[in-house]
Amino acid sequence: MATYTHGHHESVLRSHRWRTAENSAAYLLGHLAPGLAVLDVGCGPGTITADLAQLVAPGRVTAVDVSEAVLDEARRAAGLANVEFALADVHALDFPDDSFDVVHAHQVLQHVGDPVAALREMRRVCRPGGIVAARDSDYAAMTWYPEVPELDAWLALYREVAQHNGGEPDAGRRLHAWARRAGFREVTGSASVWCFATGEDRTWWSGMWAERITHSAIAGQALAAGYPQEELDRISEGWRKWGAVEDGWFSVLHGEVLCRP
Ligand SMILES: C[S@@+](CC[C@H](N)C(=O)[O-])C[C@H]1O[C@@H](n2cnc3c(N)ncnc32)[C@H](O)[C@@H]1O
Repeated sequence: MATYTHGHHESVLRSHRWRTAENSAAYLLGHLAPGLAVLDVGCGPGTITADLAQLVAPGRVTAVDVSEAVLDEARRAAGLANVEFALADVHALDFPDDSFDVVHAHQVLQHVGDPVAALREMRRVCRPGGIVAARDSDYAAMTWYPEVPELDAWLALYREVAQHNGGEPDAGRRLHAWARRAGFREVTGSASVWCFATGEDRTWWSGMWAERITHSAIAGQALAAGYPQEELDRISEGWRKWGAVEDGWFSVLHGEVLCRP
């Protein structure tokens, strides 16, 4: 099994908690309706899950993750009667065939050991006529202004560590190919971005990465891979430098797929 590169440090969860169905699952929203049964795979702290639950109520959302700690946080935060949380690995879901109308995964397949097997398993638990939806970022396609050499170093470090952990940091561009390999009859690919271009967004995004690179699980993994602490500190400073530039701009490209079993 692959190691989850980011871990669940507060600086990581801060990024996950910002997510909504609108900013992270817009490509799926037109396919949701009251009464549908949804599985949210790799739900993390569950903010997208909670939005999905409101959109399909009185339908039910089941949300799973491999981390008991993050599931505890999601349970505390959700506070909705139509959501339940369970521990499960996407490669071996403990649900009968054809259990859900919609099976969703946001920024999960980039972290798993076998994304094609994961999509096959998501297809198995999706009923005929249902939909499997996945969205993943694509690190090599992230782009920003102005050029800050420390951010180039950040990207190279992140991609090296994520690949070493058995993941695929450039998953966005591969999702449709993985879905076709998993045997879906119909795959619709699309793309969308997060863009951080206001002072408030820049402060939030840069401050979060400045902390993540020195305090989250990725810091320990980078040190173990031979990166010196000074390099992590330098990258962290680079993030703060970028965040302070008034004209700073950052975009995170995501690939998306809507798949019919
Ligand atoms: C980047 S987070 C995304 C969380 C949430 N979907 C969101 O976008 O806010 C990835 C999540 O996938 C979970 N995860 C990693 N490998 C998994 C696996 N094999 N099966 C299920 N969940 C997994 C991690 O524990 C983590 O909470």
